[in-house]
Amino acid sequence: MDDPTNGGGGAMWLTAVAVMLTIAVVTRRRERKSSNRAAATGRAAAPPELRGAALLWCALSALRDGPLEAFRRQHAKLGSVFTASLPGLVKLTFLVGPEASRYFYLAPETEISHGRIYEFTIPLFGRGVGYDVDLATRSEQTRFYLDALHARKVRASIAAMVEEVEDYFSRWGEAGVVDLKHEMEHALLLISSRCLLGREVRESMVDEVCTLFRDLADGLQFISLFLPYLPTPAHRRRDRARVRLTELFTKVIRSRKSSGAPTSAAEDDDMLQRLINSRYKDGRATTEAEVAALLLAVVFAGKHTSYITSTWTGIHLLSDSDPTHLAAAIDEQDQLTARHHGARVDYANVVQEMTTLHRCIKETVRLHPASPALARRVRKNLAVRTKEGDEYVIPEGHTVMSTVLVNHHLHHIYKNPHVYDPPGRFGPGREEDNLAGAFSYLGFSAGRHVCLGETFAYTQIKVLWSHLLKNFDLKMVSPFPKTKLSTMVAEPKGKVMVSYRRRRQGHA
Ligand code: HEM
Repeated sequence: MDDPTNGGGGAMWLTAVAVMLTIAVVTRRRERKSSNRAAATGRAAAPPELRGAALLWCALSALRDGPLEAFRRQHAKLGSVFTASLPGLVKLTFLVGPEASRYFYLAPETEISHGRIYEFTIPLFGRGVGYDVDLATRSEQTRFYLDALHARKVRASIAAMVEEVEDYFSRWGEAGVVDLKHEMEHALLLISSRCLLGREVRESMVDEVCTLFRDLADGLQFISLFLPYLPTPAHRRRDRARVRLTELFTKVIRSRKSSGAPTSAAEDDDMLQRLINSRYKDGRATTEAEVAALLLAVVFAGKHTSYITSTWTGIHLLSDSDPTHLAAAIDEQDQLTARHHGARVDYANVVQEMTTLHRCIKETVRLHPASPALARRVRKNLAVRTKEGDEYVIPEGHTVMSTVLVNHHLHHIYKNPHVYDPPGRFGPGREEDNLAGAFSYLGFSAGRHVCLGETFAYTQIKVLWSHLLKNFDLKMVSPFPKTKLSTMVAEPKGKVMVSYRRRRQGHA
């Protein structure tokens, strides 16, 4: 198994820190003027610093023993809040563990915000949404997403998800070998097209949209984080893809608007209609450009994260390391089919009952969080109290980081944290995701910027794996993969080959 403290997973974490360091350096330069005002820290001291030779030693030990081990040592030595400092360049303050994390997730936007860290999303999604608009407008757009991705509306999409999954896997033969990554990406993109982008896209332009989304994703590279407008070939393809996607979506939006008021059935059917129907507090309707950009952003936020999680879930279940988890997941599907009498399960009712599968996905996200660390900017001196009882003030201008992957491996919360243990870990009596309060588990973020698509993500991945487990005998053919280092979301390296054979007792 890919142990996140070493090899691929470890390097992934280092990559994440490197990315954040770079962002921090760049935003630090941009915001040097404001950070000059950040000297006064009141009576409490700034957090302990890791600098000079100690910082270098820490980096070397991270390479030698794995970053989690290096972090554990610093955590033991300096406590749960400490700053890595490259004088004159960057101050990166880590908030380790649930107690320190609460400041990161709960502090108001006036104290902690994304700052200019997410500016690279503007050329991805276009103007007028997200990090291109002021906070008040962004909050209203977040409300549109919240409404559109409400659990009740996700539930209304389940039948469409099932249809897409059944249709997609009906193309598999009696037996064969496939690349799981490719299959997950395609099946989930069809679900997104149908449930988010709408039937017009799904029926007549899905292949083009699929290619364009790939160009958009490929345009998000390490360099894009600090020079998003640099005219590289990948950025040019990204820009062309965004323009074309916006054109396609605008055509659909216009045609829907001109065909009269939407029926409630259409509104239940996809996110596009829900965004068209959204209104700002002053009564203003969303514009075509806003709807197109909001759609782009939400599909982008959910696409890669869901496909990677779905793939890692399959890898953990189908690899030989512990066959009991696969057996338990299949058993759950068989029992649900039997309990619901038969051939065709009404998924809208039973997705909620797939506790084992749910925990398998949750445990996957613990070990392979889409974002191994999250970054924000301190806008106003921030007072924090650590688990150890120390009080510090993190000065304005620092970049703060929530160490998601490290938190997910804290021994006082997670028993044998490197082991994939879905039923035990989250089951009654252990419930480790809540053991130290709300910030013990951060796979979908928390607080102000919690993932708005969590229900949608779980639902589509459960629908997909439920179908596969019920209808196919599956086995990993390739070895357990390492984590790919060069991508923004921690994906498995190389192809993930899986053999399948149709189950005779399966129910399509
Ligand atoms: C397993 C799949 C997913 C994972 C692990 C995941 C994880 C996350 C994380 C960690 C964040 C917080 C980023 C930050 O704080 O900077 C986030 C934000 C977000 N996610 Fe997800 N996500 C997933 C799927 C989805 C899906 C399917 C959708 C939509 C259909 C979605 C929509 C969003 C949105 C709109 C935000 C921005 C929230 C905000 O800033 O207010 N996500 N997600």
